[in-house]
Amino acid sequence: MTPAKPRLTVIDTDPGIDDAIGILMALASPDFTIAGIMTVAGNIGLETTTRNAGRLLAFAGRGDIPVFQGAAAPLSRVGPEPLNLHGEDGIGGVALPDPARLPESQHAVEWLADFLLGEPAGTVDVLALGPLTNLARLVLEQPEAARRIGRIIAMGGAIHEHGNVGPCSEFNLWADPEAAAVVVESGLPLVLIPLDVTRRVRATRDFVETLAASEKPMASMVASLIESYFEAATNRESRPLHDPCVMLYALAPELFRIEELRLCVDTGGSDAAGALAIDPEGSPVQVALGVDGSGALHLLARCLSAGSTSASIG
Ligand code: BDR
Ligand code: CA
Repeated sequence: MTPAKPRLTVIDTDPGIDDAIGILMALASPDFTIAGIMTVAGNIGLETTTRNAGRLLAFAGRGDIPVFQGAAAPLSRVGPEPLNLHGEDGIGGVALPDPARLPESQHAVEWLADFLLGEPAGTVDVLALGPLTNLARLVLEQPEAARRIGRIIAMGGAIHEHGNVGPCSEFNLWADPEAAAVVVESGLPLVLIPLDVTRRVRATRDFVETLAASEKPMASMVASLIESYFEAATNRESRPLHDPCVMLYALAPELFRIEELRLCVDTGGSDAAGALAIDPEGSPVQVALGVDGSGALHLLARCLSAGSTSASIG
């Protein structure tokens, strides 16, 4: 079931190939009104994630959506090295135009606080696709504004699955564990989309070929992005479509199985940093633990095929 009317939405992101797919999906869907894109360092440095956000908006012809640059580094640690799997430009070398406009001069966290204070409480959702540094800063610096968030849907963590950067640690939470702990413990309405779910949402070659043959530029661009994101080992399935699962959950929560878990975030210094533990003393979080993977892919294709027939390819 899709939402009755478009939700006011802010995307907090570190594009990133899978971020880019999620952003294009959201832009193609009439069910989101995207008020702004906030960037954070993660998959690659902040200058590049910010530029990539602008490039995606330019491609989609959405120069009306502002980009706000956020945190260049975690709350209290050194940031991660760029992840090779996203390529030198962070989006797999796929051809996108230059940004149509500069990022805004206001810091992302300040903008989000002002925006939340200017809208009715509970009406703005934040889709978090990267390390949680910006949201943690909002909670710490602007708690009154933070309390007005409708809900946060965040890709991050691993519950019963092994991690992707440490034995139990997933990249977004590992990159800034202190920020993840602040957000998890904040009491804000939080839906977490962990690896347990995202690893079940992978594109096949047939899926990509169908998208590539579409006359819709959003669909063929996503085909190119997924093409640069195949598992080198098998070459049969893409890497997990982590971040688009956030948009998919926002559009169709019925595709996911949710459980409330009490969670703690490991903020130690080892490779357990960012790991989640189920703990009776932990904070209650809605966690996606199951997904209808083929239903999710079907919805992704449906959104992209409904998108506009014009876009600008640089
Ligand atoms: C997460 O880490 C990043 O590499 C992806 O963009 C995704 O947000 C998956 O662990
Ligand atoms: Ca990401």
